[in-house]
Amino acid sequence: VGGVKIARKDVVKEDDPTNNVPDTIFSKIGLQLHMRDNHPLGILKNTIYDYFDKNFAGQFYKFDDLCPLVSVKQNFDDVLVPADHVSRSYNDTYYVDGQTVLRCHTSAHQAELLRDGHTHFLVTGDVYRRDSIDSTHYPVFHQMEGFRVFSPDDWSGSGMDGTAYAYAAADLKKTLEGLARHLFGAVEMRWVDTYFPFTNPSFELEIYFQDDWLEVLGCGVTEQEILKRNGRTDHVAWAFGLGLERLAMVLFDIPDIRLFWSNDKRFTSQFSEGKLGVKFKPFSKFPPCYKDMSFWINDEFTENNLCEVVRGIAGDLVEEVKLIDNFTNKKGMTSHCYRIAYRSMERSLTDEEINDLQWNVREAVKSKLKVELR
Ligand code: PHE
Repeated sequence: VGGVKIARKDVVKEDDPTNNVPDTIFSKIGLQLHMRDNHPLGILKNTIYDYFDKNFAGQFYKFDDLCPLVSVKQNFDDVLVPADHVSRSYNDTYYVDGQTVLRCHTSAHQAELLRDGHTHFLVTGDVYRRDSIDSTHYPVFHQMEGFRVFSPDDWSGSGMDGTAYAYAAADLKKTLEGLARHLFGAVEMRWVDTYFPFTNPSFELEIYFQDDWLEVLGCGVTEQEILKRNGRTDHVAWAFGLGLERLAMVLFDIPDIRLFWSNDKRFTSQFSEGKLGVKFKPFSKFPPCYKDMSFWINDEFTENNLCEVVRGIAGDLVEEVKLIDNFTNKKGMTSHCYRIAYRSMERSLTDEEINDLQWNVREAVKSKLKVELR
């Protein structure tokens, strides 16, 4: 499925210091889980499509096959991310080289689609972020972006005054409240003010679900500068971005984000096209095994780098990497102790296998992060 074909040499460049893409990440490019109609992410995507098709008479153009390799300009500059924003750092984003990244959000496509003349569009795709490891975080996940442009006729205005922005904000909220009801039924919702560089005002939509407020998406009224730069002066627009895994975990009762990547029939056979919200029945959960590792950190040490090294050795057998102790001695040296949880979702791991993994992880951490194991 899909048309994304990328060669290893085009994304993994071990001898280029401006590249930080490991093989574990390369191996996920092009899998396009959101294109599988029998996969929870595909089912969710299609259900959202249905909502927009029904309510907007097919006006929304759908893109789900745009290449995840984008320029730094597309990913950051075009959506007004400040030069010093943390998301631009090597610690947070996968850089192919100084000018090219694996997109960290689907907002990377806003500007080009606007320039191409689109006024209503949805962009679904895999996005990439360096992060720590636990049951809800995985360095590759999927987002859907929505974008709608209005012209003065829509708000029957004569210029860019408060009316225009109020009109866009009201339409945005109405549209997304409808979407949330389409997905979750009659739920309690609330809007929370937040910040994004590309929207103003910016909001998060939360719904009350299973005794908790759950953040469903981020959105807002598009910054005028983005419209101006891309051929839509005197227009207003709204945009939203939602994380498909986050919603699918709740809607299908999926307890661990790694399961989305599983080819195990006991997982894949539980979902079918058009059936949103079928509750996942966990197949017997295999026991976790915990291993601790302590070392003196150095100035370059970050938890994201540690997690990348651990994942490079243990892959999806690592369930969580957690800091359990942290102290600084009289000489000013800081020691961290991390607890690594190993667990397969498919089988029991043997002691020998885990000891081997842990030994390899220790060696890799020592050599790649230049920390001193204790
Ligand atoms: N790009 C934002 C994110 O990844 C989500 C977003 C999209 C927010 C569009 C506002 C408008 O968190």
